[in-house]
Amino acid sequence: MASMAERPDLKVDLGRGLHLRSPVIVASGTFGYGFDAPQVDRAALGAIVSKGTTLRPHEGNAPIRIAETPSGMLNAIGLQNPGVDHVAHVYAPQWATWDLPVIVNVAGDSVDEYVAVARRLNGVPGVAGLELNISCPNVQSGLQFGVDPVLAAEVTHAVRAVTELPLIVKLTPNVTDIVAVARAVEDAGADAVSAINTYVGMAIDVRRRRPIISRGSGGLSGAAIKPLALHAVWQLAAEVHIPVVGVGGIMTPGDALEFLLAGATAVQLGTVNYVRPQAAAEIHDGIAAYMVQHGLTDMRALPIRSVSVLTHV
Ligand SMILES: Cc1cc2nc3c(=O)[nH]c(=O)nc-3n(C[C@H](O)[C@H](O)[C@H](O)COP(=O)(O)O)c2cc1C
Repeated sequence: MASMAERPDLKVDLGRGLHLRSPVIVASGTFGYGFDAPQVDRAALGAIVSKGTTLRPHEGNAPIRIAETPSGMLNAIGLQNPGVDHVAHVYAPQWATWDLPVIVNVAGDSVDEYVAVARRLNGVPGVAGLELNISCPNVQSGLQFGVDPVLAAEVTHAVRAVTELPLIVKLTPNVTDIVAVARAVEDAGADAVSAINTYVGMAIDVRRRRPIISRGSGGLSGAAIKPLALHAVWQLAAEVHIPVVGVGGIMTPGDALEFLLAGATAVQLGTVNYVRPQAAAEIHDGIAAYMVQHGLTDMRALPIRSVSVLTHV
């Protein structure tokens, strides 16, 4: 039998009873609803986050919806999803038979829509938690909920009131002060925040003289955004009292460890799932090996923040 030193405890706690056996989560939009990725070793995963789910089905945007860049990808999928009823009736009963929590990423274009989706999922067996994607446009103000602390708090508070499920709020980096938004959603009842969603970007086809993505802009993800995401997590971990889930450009075990050292409780893998489906297992094993190497037995020992570190940065 392996000793404790050979098998460190990788369990993490995201609050409100959401205990994960591993800090490695697959990120929304890059893993569908968990049914289409047989190459991924589920034993390495702590949880799956579903594609953004809305009240009614959405076909998403017209192609072209994805473009490669030298160090990442742009996407403008447009929340293609089958709608919450399908998720609750067809997918959740299958998830209930898995030994892996599935967190539903919730999207909407009004507070009422977020609330309706959350209400529909509350108490549904197989749904382990909600992740609110507040990077969707708010039709009333034309803003994304996530760029305004007041709107972000309003939608978080409204959803909190109708669900007992663990509630993670996913922050957009397209803001001046991500900490202000995080503080607002923490005060409004979020159990955790995940940071970050994609950065708005674009690419132009110079031959055809038009944007590659048909909508013009898209969300940039992948290796290009890792230092930016890492800094957001570093700032957030110092300023909020709830778990921070790090996401953005994590491609290797070393990348994941940087986020965990910066104070993330868990990490999400997005774009890398398209590049190397076995990355989740590699990253899980790499974190375990690092802990053995450093004589650590508990994930809570990983964050490095201390006054001496801060003053030397
Ligand atoms: C194709 C694609 C679809 C995505 N769909 C969603 C979504 O539905 N909801 C959401 O909150 N984030 C979505 N994201 C954002 C990712 O979950 C993640 O936050 C982002 O890609 C940064 O992580 P990465 O660099 O590891 O990919 C999507 C990303 C990609 C690449």
